[in-house]
Amino acid sequence: MTDASYNSHIQPINLFEYEQLAKEHLSQMSFDYYSSGAGDEVTLQDNRAAFGRIKLRPRMLVDVSDRNLTTEILGQPLQLPLLIAPMAFQCLAHPEGEIATAQAAALAGVGMVLSTLSTKSIEQVAVVREKLPNALQWFQLYIHKDRGLTRSLVERAYTAGYKALCLTVDAPVLGQRERDQRNEFTLPPGLHPANLINISELDIPHEKGESGLFTYFAQQLNSAVTWRDLEWLQSLSPLPLVLKGILRGDDAVRAVEYGAKAIVVSNHGGRQLDSAIASLDALPEIVAAVDGTAEVLLDGGIRRGTDILKALALGAKAVLIGRPVLWGLAVAGQPGVSHLISLLQNELNVAMALSGYAQLQDIDPSLVNSLHL
Ligand code: FNR
Ligand code: LAC
Repeated sequence: MTDASYNSHIQPINLFEYEQLAKEHLSQMSFDYYSSGAGDEVTLQDNRAAFGRIKLRPRMLVDVSDRNLTTEILGQPLQLPLLIAPMAFQCLAHPEGEIATAQAAALAGVGMVLSTLSTKSIEQVAVVREKLPNALQWFQLYIHKDRGLTRSLVERAYTAGYKALCLTVDAPVLGQRERDQRNEFTLPPGLHPANLINISELDIPHEKGESGLFTYFAQQLNSAVTWRDLEWLQSLSPLPLVLKGILRGDDAVRAVEYGAKAIVVSNHGGRQLDSAIASLDALPEIVAAVDGTAEVLLDGGIRRGTDILKALALGAKAVLIGRPVLWGLAVAGQPGVSHLISLLQNELNVAMALSGYAQLQDIDPSLVNSLHL
């Protein structure tokens, strides 16, 4: 679909409308891969429902005329407490794929985490920083059985100027996504995992009766990784380590003990263990356990400015968004993602004013009902 067709539609005014529109731009296989969760999609739905269970307690008669939505993550400035979550295969949505996403993130001053399984390479995406040098880019790592390959991914990310290594810890095997299984998910001709294909001819197979990505994980990724491997990982580069996919306070404490500088509270958007706790529900326990020794981020189900406000009130320093970015990409490439980020920014801005907060830093647990505290 061309970006011109975007203009012939009425522009979406929220992230849900982007999803509706994106459906028209994507093949069934791609839309299912992007939108689905594991199993009965209980966790996928509960990620959203958890935000509905929390209510805001706005303060009145506060001077909110001068609002500031900026923050810092691992010492780097962000215009919004927002990063784009790592997501594989973005060229399924738009030919510019991860480059378009990176441009939109950099233009808006939000972070972007590049997936190991990107369809534009580490180096291609890093080029975006030539024009926008302040862009915050992290690299998300999947540890392959091939240690040499894993090492080279880390070294390439460091050399290319990524600012953190985000290790995803909730995927020793891939979750069972039945829509992908039914579709026998694979990449269409011409698309490959760009970081891997030139090194070792790794590709996503077309597997009868199974998702090719499920098979790829089983064949290529190392499901024997434990806490002890984090030392090795950190010896490969000076990049700060971020662990993504933590859902318990005790694991969060361990993460910090093993050197993590930030934690992403996440259930992988409901795509891994179905029935896993909603990420927002897991947040208070983790914030309490970490007790300021690392930065805590959250993803899963963020669709509204008020969702960001709730996550911040419960102790997250920033949030990541996943699927909506793919909808923005599918609809209009970089301008679509830029517009989508601006919608979320406006919503957060208004929600802060109406809640009686001018500064992100002032947002505290008293903003939410006490059910979860
Ligand atoms: C993901 N996610 C993901 N996570 C990761 O660490 N590495 C990856 O390669 C991917 N790939 C991926 C592909 C697609 C299509 C989706 C939807 C998600 C998980 C992602 O980083 C994030 O945790 C969730 O998407 C957040 O939930 P929402 O915002 O999509 O509800
Ligand atoms: C996914 C993997 C690639 O969620 O993380 O599809």
